[in-house]
Amino acid sequence: MKRVLLILLALALLGVVTAVSVVGLGLYNVSARSGHLPGVSWALHTTFRNSVRLRASAPDDMPDLSDPELIALGAGHYATACAPCHAEPGKRPTATMRAMQPQPPAIREAVTDWNPAELHWIIDNGVKMSGMPGWPTGGRGDEVWAVVAYLETVRRNASPPLPTPKRDRNADAAEAGYCRTCHGSISRHVPRLDIQQPEYLTKALQDYLKGERPSGIMQQAVSRVPPEAIPGLARYFATVPLSGAKTTGAPVAGKELASRGTRKVPACIACHGPGAPLAQPPAPALAGQDRAFLETQLRLWRDGIRQGSARMSAAARALTDHDIRLLSEWYASLEAGSGNAE
Ligand code: HEC
Ligand code: HEC
Ligand code: HEC
Repeated sequence: MKRVLLILLALALLGVVTAVSVVGLGLYNVSARSGHLPGVSWALHTTFRNSVRLRASAPDDMPDLSDPELIALGAGHYATACAPCHAEPGKRPTATMRAMQPQPPAIREAVTDWNPAELHWIIDNGVKMSGMPGWPTGGRGDEVWAVVAYLETVRRNASPPLPTPKRDRNADAAEAGYCRTCHGSISRHVPRLDIQQPEYLTKALQDYLKGERPSGIMQQAVSRVPPEAIPGLARYFATVPLSGAKTTGAPVAGKELASRGTRKVPACIACHGPGAPLAQPPAPALAGQDRAFLETQLRLWRDGIRQGSARMSAAARALTDHDIRLLSEWYASLEAGSGNAE
């Protein structure tokens, strides 16, 4: 009995010495060039696969993945956030990316083994210890679906070309061509900017930059331009009418709620117009805004994912999905700029 205990003690000691040598003395070679020890790669990859399959449950919020506007939005994000590692479809990642351990697979290979729910999980969460990043913010599964919609076209070998920004000659807004690959080019899910005042646009861009307004797509976009360019971009987009911006002329059942409110919901027009000046600190104009964008934002406010204005959070708290649909439809149906100064 005593001998068994002694052997166990010796083994435990050996374990501790090995761990100390590996961790403390740096005996394990972390060089990406040397690859993993036999079996380690297999174990990591199998763990990754099984972990995703266990966690990616059948989602109930999957939108229509064949929506061309959603696909275009996903392509726009892919171009700057994913292509540096996974390359454009049909191209190989650069030599430097292929020297990563594990290697980011070329995107056509990356999508083969996964269904849309699993892709969504991977892009939302990332993969620990592999270099595959998670989505820059939590609670925005809706945005991740845009990328999945794009990846589904890659799987079918039918992906639209990635957008290439045109240089804008306007010195105030040299980066505007990049922004316009989405704003003004994609007519749903992406907000119109030309209905806003520059103060509101500046605040929105700064909130994204600081991570105070959650959007993986816009946090990525704004982090690519120099911070000192923000006021110029805000002035530019507040004045340039964008092609593709249009009102929907939809039914107007939301008017009653927006104008009068209820016991639990304040009248929206008091702060957002039409028929009243916009509230300060800057409240955005809503008349003529994209309906899908309004619906998403109202859900984010109601569910506490978008914060930053206590008054707006309070206004959205009691909205039902039905209210949100009516209000968004009504505001989207209005002529842009209608009556803000009335
Ligand atoms: C910094 C480089 C990097 C960026 C940026 C990146 N990835 Fe990855 N990605 C990786 C690496 C490395 C792996 C391999 C993980 C593994 O096999 O353990 C991976 C794995 C994946 C996989 C799973 C493929 C498989 O079967 O191994 C998908 C799908 C994927 N990435 C999509 C994306 C999308 C979409 C984006 C952009 C939102 C993105 N990645 C951004 C490096 C990156
Ligand atoms: C890949 C597409 C894409 C690109 C590129 C892009 N945007 Fe956006 N933008 C969006 C989407 C989608 C939203 C809505 C984000 C959200 O849910 O908050 C948005 C929101 C905004 C908003 C907030 C508007 C509001 O009414 O609250 C501003 C301001 C903005 N973008 C400006 C810019 C500027 C300036 C650039 C260039 C530096 C740019 N965007 C690049 C897609 C894009
Ligand atoms: C007390 C003033 C106030 C009231 C009432 C109010 N809001 Fe707001 N709302 C704001 C402010 C301020 C913001 C901007 C907050 C920020 O910059 O983060 C905002 C933002 C929004 C946005 C985001 C738009 C964008 O472009 O990003 C939507 C959508 C919105 N409100 C809809 C509504 C609706 C619908 C109602 C009525 C149910 C309503 N609001 C009531 C003050 C108000």
